[in-house]
Amino acid sequence: MTGPRLRQDLAQLPAYTPGRPAVTGTSGLGPGHKLSSNENPYPPLPSVLQAVAEQSAAFNRYPDMSATHLTAALASRFDVPVDDIAVGAGSVGVLGQILAAVVAPGDEVVYAWRSFEAYPILVQVAGATPVPVPLTPDERHDLGAMAAAVTDRTRLVLVCSPNNPTGTAVRRAEFEQFLDRIPDDVLVVIDEAYHEFVTDPDVPDGLDLYRGRSNVAVLRTFSKAYGLAGLRVGYLIAHSPVAAAVRRTAPPFAVTALAQAAAIASLSARDELHDRVDALNQGRTRVEAALTGQGWALVPSQANFVWLRTGRDSAAFTAACAANGVTVRPYGDEGVRVSIGTPDADDAFLATAAAWRAQACCHWVLVSGYVVAIEYGTSYRVVNARGQVRSTLQANQTFDMLADSRDLGALLEALLRETPAASPPESLIAKAGSSASIAAPGPGGSGPLSGEPDRPPTSQHQVADRQFYWAG
Ligand SMILES: Cc1ncc(COP(=O)(O)O)c(C=O)c1O
Repeated sequence: MTGPRLRQDLAQLPAYTPGRPAVTGTSGLGPGHKLSSNENPYPPLPSVLQAVAEQSAAFNRYPDMSATHLTAALASRFDVPVDDIAVGAGSVGVLGQILAAVVAPGDEVVYAWRSFEAYPILVQVAGATPVPVPLTPDERHDLGAMAAAVTDRTRLVLVCSPNNPTGTAVRRAEFEQFLDRIPDDVLVVIDEAYHEFVTDPDVPDGLDLYRGRSNVAVLRTFSKAYGLAGLRVGYLIAHSPVAAAVRRTAPPFAVTALAQAAAIASLSARDELHDRVDALNQGRTRVEAALTGQGWALVPSQANFVWLRTGRDSAAFTAACAANGVTVRPYGDEGVRVSIGTPDADDAFLATAAAWRAQACCHWVLVSGYVVAIEYGTSYRVVNARGQVRSTLQANQTFDMLADSRDLGALLEALLRETPAASPPESLIAKAGSSASIAAPGPGGSGPLSGEPDRPPTSQHQVADRQFYWAG
């Protein structure tokens, strides 16, 4: 028996990795904090709970398939025609409907990468070809490259702003220039799942862009700022031909009556929800300031999370957080995304981050009189044996390069290539390249590193030892 024939290409799809559930720290810090899914950490508002409770007496009935009241409430809130609205089971459900409405096999969908991990999955499920365009070194959408990636096969461009997981948002002028370059018959969907957390006045409201352009649509959700992640409701605002097509591809009754009631009640609870968003944004400001103070290099976030370029240490950092009862979201060897939570959750995360930094930035090695100190995500320094800085690098691009360095000789060479002014003699590079002369200074060895006067060197390192923090 061979069984039913399934789509061969499904096995090739990347799996969606949900944020892991809360853990309890092994260090006895009490109940865990889930900072892995960008959820709103506050419990449902009483008025929303009440609306859901009332609705729950009737769940023997199918919901209103057209979500008439919710659609009307959204139309009135955003001052758009009801015909321009399509709702679905979470914005991810709406995105599936959009793809079903827009792409045929072989069509191309352009999006930035790294971005929301559902994009490549949904695009391939729809039979279309993903065209991921790498982010810029400062973690932003590369709009020039994205516009250049549009071909006559392109049917859809996704712009995630603020971007998950990096938190960066597209600014008004660059956005308009970009849209000017996209053909009218290509739909641009601005995924604004985190729109409510945006505080930068230079970041446009996607609805303003939609109002002026027939090929621009805005995708939003009740999952994040509104705190309805578990109820699954999202919506698209698009010009009526697009919205109508997206309604047509909806699975019948996808948005439950409970979700519709909760969303309507949430739209009426504007002030309370605004206060919660405000609290989370204050949390973001506090977390970013604390992390920066600890020496982390951050790109400012416009969402309810922060992004740390932890490189190959992402799994180790994630494990360190888990050991302290904090669940964060690692992305392979790229980085870690940490949601803003309640103040105590943020404190628990910051304590782990501080401990990690204190450990990581003490890692240094002595190479023929030069100390190479690796500072986590911020800088890489070559200092001489008396602690005088010979060169300092501050670059994400350097980070990638260092992350690929397999031995310290290559690392040092790479450092010196980047900063020729600080180059020690060729003989030193050769010697370092041979790896034989590398030793760790003992206490009192080479003196403090610049800017870190109170942190003595702590660790012994072998050149090819993974204990050495390649990226920090
Ligand atoms: C950018 C982005 N878009 C869409 C979603 C989907 O949210 P939902 O399906 O819960 O509305 C998420 C969730 O993490 C997201 O980060």
